[in-house]
Amino acid sequence: MAERTIPIADHRYRASVPAVPAVPQPPSGLLSDRLGRPLRDLRISVTDRCNFRCSYCMPKEIFDGTYRFLPHASLLSFEEITRLARVFVAHGVHKIRLTGGEPLLRKHLEQLIAMLAALRDVDGRPLDLTLTTNATLLARKAAALQAAGLQRVTVSLDALDDRVFRAMNDVDFPVAGVLEGIDEAMRVGLGPLKVNMVVKRGTNDHEIVPMARFFRERYEGRVILRFIEFMDVGTTNGWRMDHVLPSAQVLERLHAVFPLEPVEPNCSGETAERWRYRDGGGEIGLISSVTQAFCRDCNRARLSTEGKLYLCLFATRGHDLRALLRGGASDAQLAGAVGQVWAGRDDRYSELRSAGRAPTDGERRVEMHYIGG
Ligand code: GTP
Ligand code: 5AD
Ligand code: SF4
Ligand code: SF4
Repeated sequence: MAERTIPIADHRYRASVPAVPAVPQPPSGLLSDRLGRPLRDLRISVTDRCNFRCSYCMPKEIFDGTYRFLPHASLLSFEEITRLARVFVAHGVHKIRLTGGEPLLRKHLEQLIAMLAALRDVDGRPLDLTLTTNATLLARKAAALQAAGLQRVTVSLDALDDRVFRAMNDVDFPVAGVLEGIDEAMRVGLGPLKVNMVVKRGTNDHEIVPMARFFRERYEGRVILRFIEFMDVGTTNGWRMDHVLPSAQVLERLHAVFPLEPVEPNCSGETAERWRYRDGGGEIGLISSVTQAFCRDCNRARLSTEGKLYLCLFATRGHDLRALLRGGASDAQLAGAVGQVWAGRDDRYSELRSAGRAPTDGERRVEMHYIGG
């Protein structure tokens, strides 16, 4: 008898299959969780792989040649992703961000973008469709992504000093390659473009002012640079509070060189506090999830590469939507299950951690490369 390969069930993190209500209520677009928060933002991870090994996300010692990334059969197909996205949109989502790992490593990503770009939110408008990338493949792919319907991109860049950046990405990738990607994205109209810099005290905090100066001058206020506090996400990045440079100090350092003033938020639930240069040199953002948690208005859901729904970046458990999809659930049943899961949500990890009450249930928290930023 021929040998049969039995696929290993991928229970990377604990997950349960959500219950399907007997009589699913049709989505109203007005879903609300236990803390009164709507569902507006869906982040979809399209691969758990990355060609960088940033120490704060995928440290080389753990994500080495022996690490087992998800097998191809585990990944949601583009059709499955789009079907789920449609359900989330019916529940009120109007922003979709593709993440990874590094999303541009997923083959034919522009096909998925075209499928998502065809969706309309509950008010009949196109979605805010964006993507977070390390930009290594952006120069090559920007035009096709834009043509497929992607509206904008966010690029991760932690330093301008080549030595510092090569050490932080830990694969010796040069700054120039990222800047090429940014230039091309701007040229094809993928703006307003945001650049995310994770600040680690003692590693790249001396790059704060040079980064601000560079992006002010080179793009004349058309690129928004955001400074992110190093977070205790996952369990592998060796996070310590003394590696965090509080945003208040980032602001102080910037303000001393380029005076800043606050800007009103675009909408509620934003991650970044907005500031602008008083001389008209553009805008920056401060993302302070460690020192000033922003859980109160958190309207973000995350879908992992293998179709598990996570309600918080620091979650320990997922909700296995792929099991429902592949088990033959109808759209109405999927919508009913998602609605019920969101209605039961009370996650607010960063807030609890700030208050010294972070849940310590002993379970493994999801990793950033697995559910995206
Ligand atoms: P824009 O719509 O472009 O403003 O995007 P965004 O700020 O919603 O998303 P982005 O992925 O650029 O977020 C920037 C960073 O903020 C991420 O890389 C994370 O480090 C952090 N972040 C995003 N969402 C959350 C969240 O829900 N909780 C926490 N604690 N941090 C988050
Ligand atoms: N702290 C803060 N941000 C992080 N990211 C990844 N790991 C961390 C962390 N530990 C964010 C970075 C990167 C995006 C993909 O995820 O902003 O740009
Ligand atoms: Fe890759 Fe982004 Fe994680 Fe760095 S932070 S290892 S670029 S997924
Ligand atoms: Fe939302 Fe969780 Fe981040 Fe708080 S810690 S903002 S609840 S994802």
